[in-house]
Amino acid sequence: MASPHVDVDDLIATLEQIRQRGHSAHTVFRDWVELMLFALQRRDEPYLEILEGYRERADMDQPDGQRSADLFANAFGQLQERMAETDADVLGAVYEEYGMSSDAFGQHFTPHPVCEMMAEISGIVDDSETDGRQTVLDPACGSGRMLLVGARHQPTSLFVGQDKDPLCAKMAALNCCFFNIDAYIVQGDSLTVKYQRAWQTSHSPMGGSVRELDEDETEDLRDSLTAAFENMAKEQSKDDASQASEAQNVNVSTLSGREQASLLAFDSDH
Ligand SMILES: C[S@@+](CC[C@H](N)C(=O)[O-])C[C@H]1O[C@@H](n2cnc3c(N)ncnc32)[C@H](O)[C@@H]1O
Repeated sequence: MASPHVDVDDLIATLEQIRQRGHSAHTVFRDWVELMLFALQRRDEPYLEILEGYRERADMDQPDGQRSADLFANAFGQLQERMAETDADVLGAVYEEYGMSSDAFGQHFTPHPVCEMMAEISGIVDDSETDGRQTVLDPACGSGRMLLVGARHQPTSLFVGQDKDPLCAKMAALNCCFFNIDAYIVQGDSLTVKYQRAWQTSHSPMGGSVRELDEDETEDLRDSLTAAFENMAKEQSKDDASQASEAQNVNVSTLSGREQASLLAFDSDH
């Protein structure tokens, strides 16, 4: 994740070709993300259903290789190439850049060097320094960029990302699959702990895979993560109480890095 700026102009030019056939930037980007997610899960039916929306006359008049389905596939190829070159969150960079041309979506994620710093202050250290498997959580994960940085430091940890925005949750699931990370990605509100959907990505020497959890699995995931999080909060408040009693004569009040950071790392048996 060293790359501070990822050039995504050629990728956006490909998506633009589709948009100019009468679709909005948001529709094109959302459908591209969904097509990749369905393709990786080998879910042909919803994949073809999305493409059906692009089979109007303007598209059928295009020569072979220039139809929307071809352009979506080209953009997937360009994404893979750029990720291989940069090892960075290219998908998030396309979202940031393309979203600037739309009123319907768009936001900026944390720059890569700041993600590195956040990982450090959140206690994500080299694998060799941890005792047992850790779970690393980003409760507002966006495209999952912080999880990707965390996985570079602790590749054997379990990563959990949550975002209430469906497009962000899907980007994070895709990224964790692309970067071959063991992760759960939840679409849901971290404050109300309501889960709408969840995906599991799995590491393998052959490359990552992704699958959507069914309702029961999603509920089980919610229960086990809530329990793990509550345990961590109890441990943390015990630590804070003992630190407060040690420091009661010090007249300085500061927020620790851990309290400010959204990224958390804790020991878990999950
Ligand atoms: C600025 S982005 C940060 C993304 C990522 N952590 C990073 O550093 O690049 C903030 C994200 O928080 C998500 N978010 C805001 N409130 C949330 C909530 N209550 N539950 C889950 N996600 C939330 C938004 O949808 C958005 O994607």
